Amino acid sequence: MRSTDVVIIGAGAAGLMCALTAAARGREVLVIESSNKPGKKILMSGGGRCNFTNMYAEPANYFSQNPNFCKSALARYTPWDFIGMVADHGVPYHEKKLGQLFCDNRSKDILQMLLGECERGGVDLRVNTAVHQIERTGAGYLLTTDMGQVTATSLVVATGGLSIPTLGATGFGYDVARQFGHDVLPTRAGLVPFTANGPLKDLCTELSGTSAASAVRGGGQSFRENLLFTHRGLSGPAILQISSFWNPGDAVEIDLLPDHDALEWLQAQQAARPDSELKTVLGEVFTKKMATLLAEFWGAAKPLKRFTAAELRDLAGHLDAWRVVPAGTEGYRTAEVTLGGVDTRQVSSKTMESLKSPGLYFVGEVLDVTGHLGGFNFQWAWASGHAAAQVV
Ligand code: FDA
Repeated sequence: MRSTDVVIIGAGAAGLMCALTAAARGREVLVIESSNKPGKKILMSGGGRCNFTNMYAEPANYFSQNPNFCKSALARYTPWDFIGMVADHGVPYHEKKLGQLFCDNRSKDILQMLLGECERGGVDLRVNTAVHQIERTGAGYLLTTDMGQVTATSLVVATGGLSIPTLGATGFGYDVARQFGHDVLPTRAGLVPFTANGPLKDLCTELSGTSAASAVRGGGQSFRENLLFTHRGLSGPAILQISSFWNPGDAVEIDLLPDHDALEWLQAQQAARPDSELKTVLGEVFTKKMATLLAEFWGAAKPLKRFTAAELRDLAGHLDAWRVVPAGTEGYRTAEVTLGGVDTRQVSSKTMESLKSPGLYFVGEVLDVTGHLGGFNFQWAWASGHAAAQVV
């Protein structure tokens, strides 16, 4: 039987941050990871360059059934704390846009930094190791694992959400939560592309790979970023952001001319060049192919002079408030995050400790805290892992 101070289940962003911070406090830490490598999502993230934080991260960038929950941890471990560690390790980085910080080289730099800090603190990290059973004992927790039985005074669940099962995602953290009397709020895929069917799918397939400036609205939110047509439907940052607020059956509204008042712009075009085909005029703001296909899709492939005032208004409505009803989302297969999870009303916002079972902690995405796109989810993983590490 092995005995240690802290067992952390899951060697992702939150688990590694918790491990290195607790180890720096002198705690003996064992990290158990079921897949064959730590930090797989870190490696995949940010298109291989890890958008590791956002300089402007604040509670308003997160949603949860309990919106105040994230405040304390985010205030006590800020983006600047993480940036400090990155700088200390000489990892080169840059701001891409909107406060989003990316590695100049590769995501591996961030993972190596975290693993290096874990090693420095003497963290014992075991991969390919499953936890089969957890029991509460007087002094803490007894785990039955592939490496035998382990006892610990603190047990940290850092198993993440359900997104991308091929990267090691499991529902194990939710099972542990339920075992110890926690509620788990319904989960669904977030930051995920939409799928389409019927004529919209045909349009998306034909335009696959085309990106356009947009403002996308839905669920009381609006995001001004690019959208991307894919062979299954719609993606790109604007769509990923709005997907977290979308419910099946809802429409989203897409403004394809976010820099113009569409009606005024069309009226000006009609007055200036009445003989031009709509596709030619749209070709000035979209790619030629997108202009042609959209004009056909909206049944508006004709010269501008043939549009009545009412038709021009309808067309303007398509351009600045194109209503699209997605067939669904690509689901956990490609989602960046999982919405919902362990109900934070039963967890201390200061320490991440269970209010149901002392010595049990939940950190990172397994909790019902989800950030916007742009480095906010890693910042939550760092901040929550750090908060728990102060007391485990
Ligand atoms: P995470 O999923 O990182 O780690 C959980 C770990 O637990 C995994 O290693 C898993 O294998 C392990 N595990 C699961 N079940 C287990 C079990 N039963 N026993 C032992 N171990 C178990 N965010 C961001 O801010 N910037 C970005 O650039 C990106 N990019 C991005 C790209 C892609 C493709 C994805 C899928 C996600 C992102 N994200 C992101 C989101 C970000 O990756 C995510 O929010 C954090 O990794 C969550 O950190 P956690 O440590 O909570 O879970």
